[in-house]
Amino acid sequence: MRRKIVAGNWKMNTMPAEGVELAKAVAAKRHEAGSNVELIVCPPFTHLSEVVKVTRGTGVAVGAQNCAAEEKGAYTGEVSAAMLASLGVEYVILGHSERREYYGETSETLNRKMAMAYANKLVPIYCVGEKLAEREAGKHFDVVGAQLREVVFNLTTEQFAHLIVAYEPVWAIGTGKTATSEQAEEIHAFIRKILAEKFGEAAENTPILYGGSCKPSNAPELFAKSDVDGGLIGGAALDADSFLGIAKAF
Ligand code: 13P
Repeated sequence: MRRKIVAGNWKMNTMPAEGVELAKAVAAKRHEAGSNVELIVCPPFTHLSEVVKVTRGTGVAVGAQNCAAEEKGAYTGEVSAAMLASLGVEYVILGHSERREYYGETSETLNRKMAMAYANKLVPIYCVGEKLAEREAGKHFDVVGAQLREVVFNLTTEQFAHLIVAYEPVWAIGTGKTATSEQAEEIHAFIRKILAEKFGEAAENTPILYGGSCKPSNAPELFAKSDVDGGLIGGAALDADSFLGIAKAF
């Protein structure tokens, strides 16, 4: 049985006090979702310390949205994986399409960030996904395949055992357009096949989350697909009821 995970990527939303309230509300309602589904919240850096405190022991884990590619030193504005781990953060989103698009993150950068995450025992939630033009040109398999081969294929077997992958079609992020459950299953199964090329049977255990306008109304259909193991949720994670509503889809 693969892990079922619903993770909230808050992006650059909520002021610190609001974020703490949101985390408390998620923790308070956590029982509404089954114990078979793991919940992770990923607030902005400024909220992490407090959010770790208010979620401790509640069955809600905490992730960051990014980490530095370097260990420490003269990297103004960066936050290291060690700093995150020291707060009690357990996960880190890496390779989100917004980071690739707006901050120029490449596979080369992401290889270094992944190494930093693993060196500090953070579990990466590695994001892949194609843009609209790439899907329309029928290139989505090539794009996603390359994003996996160029980064995930560099992991050791031991590291791979702790990886979470998120498929987020860029055209579905924040647009209200969701991939159909058939489109999601098709590419999730493809992702697992690519992972199996390198890691064999271990790929059967990798949670592959769907992201892109996932909400309580469409989560049941998406999560019913055999290779969709949960969601990485943006907008709908900013409200405790809708976030839990998605988690209840399992
Ligand atoms: P939305 O759920 O707002 O479409 O965002 C998805 C996402 O990018 C999560 O990382």
